Amino acid sequence: MASKEAIQIPPAEVVYADEIEFLAKWDDGARPPGWALTPRAVVTFIVGSGGEKLKAGKASMEIREKFVGDRALIERCVVTLASERGLLLVGEPGTAKSMLSELLAAAISGTSSLTVQGSAGTTEDQLRYGWNYAMLMAKGPSPEALVPSPIMTGLRKGRIVRVEEVTRCLPEVQDALISILSDRRLAVPELEDEQGARVEYASPGFNIISTANLRDRGVSEMSAALKRRFNFELVHPIADMEREKNLVKAKATSALDRVEQEFKLDEAVLEAVVTAFRDLRNGRSVEGWSVEKPSTVMSTAEAVSVASSMALQSAYFPSDRDPASLIPGYLLGVVLKDDAADRGKLLAYWDGAVKRRAEEGNRLWKRLLELRNVLVETDGNITL
Ligand SMILES: Nc1ncnc2c1ncn2[C@@H]1O[C@H](COP(=O)(O)OP(=O)(O)OP(=O)(O)O)[C@@H](O)[C@H]1O
Ligand SMILES: [Mg+2]
Repeated sequence: MASKEAIQIPPAEVVYADEIEFLAKWDDGARPPGWALTPRAVVTFIVGSGGEKLKAGKASMEIREKFVGDRALIERCVVTLASERGLLLVGEPGTAKSMLSELLAAAISGTSSLTVQGSAGTTEDQLRYGWNYAMLMAKGPSPEALVPSPIMTGLRKGRIVRVEEVTRCLPEVQDALISILSDRRLAVPELEDEQGARVEYASPGFNIISTANLRDRGVSEMSAALKRRFNFELVHPIADMEREKNLVKAKATSALDRVEQEFKLDEAVLEAVVTAFRDLRNGRSVEGWSVEKPSTVMSTAEAVSVASSMALQSAYFPSDRDPASLIPGYLLGVVLKDDAADRGKLLAYWDGAVKRRAEEGNRLWKRLLELRNVLVETDGNITL
């Protein structure tokens, strides 16, 4: 496995290798067959140890909070994965479904790399198996010529496999998962032995985590038969403002760390960014005033990326502008992705909540109100 330093964004099992190793010692209770950690240790890995230092023999370690949300949700996810049903994480974009599936796979199987990215172009081969055609032509179907999919590898080794954006795959392709999830086996009719088609059986520990974005609802309908083989879990945006702000700060700080820069964004500026995201996402300001929602989802993931970009811009161009002046431009960049009319909604937010806060005497919001023109003057329709 590559070292942390050599890759741009290392997978969870590399980033948190020390925590996973520690948690295996911390809880040596019964594990579901094929699991690297106990269910309790997996949940702790994901929600953190709440600031407490856990002890394992002489070693002690605080486990960082990785997913901000409901512990009960994580417990249900873990229980599902220990059962014979797949797990389907559903939610709005940017609610950390993919991140959660990566963390679960890393903690349970020690690897999150067995992943299929679903799209309209995903074929059944990518879910089942393919062939090395040169070998197939030369020798005919043989086990050596078979190219296993991540699902087949997971099945053989007893690992968690991730199928991202499953509802973007065509329904007939999605349905390849039905027999894999219910029979826990994959037949390879091209390879025959005395009993008939060769069958690969799942080793203990195998299961599937899929993710689906609510915005893609209706792109490809999921069959009732496949739905029944998954437990659905809805992942909500972060409910608490303070927790979201802390998360955005922590994520932006580590993004800057990776490029060897220091995160120096003012706390008030960061709070204004997160507040604006939450107001526009919820259709209601923190004060309870009504806000027009743009059609773009104002996700936490986007808030992280705006905060990181602003911090990076301040780091690379330190004396050019005050950081608050960057807010309208970045917000417009997020809002103007789906519908050109969303510019009007952002302007309405400025004329509503931003103005009221400015009138109440808040300095930063006053400054933001002065910057209203940026929203009008930044030209170009960048909606696709
Ligand atoms: N509840 C949360 N806890 C921790 N991080 C979060 C949370 N919500 C959002 N994030 C941040 O958002 C980022 C993006 O999440 P991710 O890509 O996993 O979202 P997603 O739900 O899969 O989105 P999409 O539907 O667009 O694929 C995470 O890496 C993390 O930085
Ligand atoms: Mg995702």
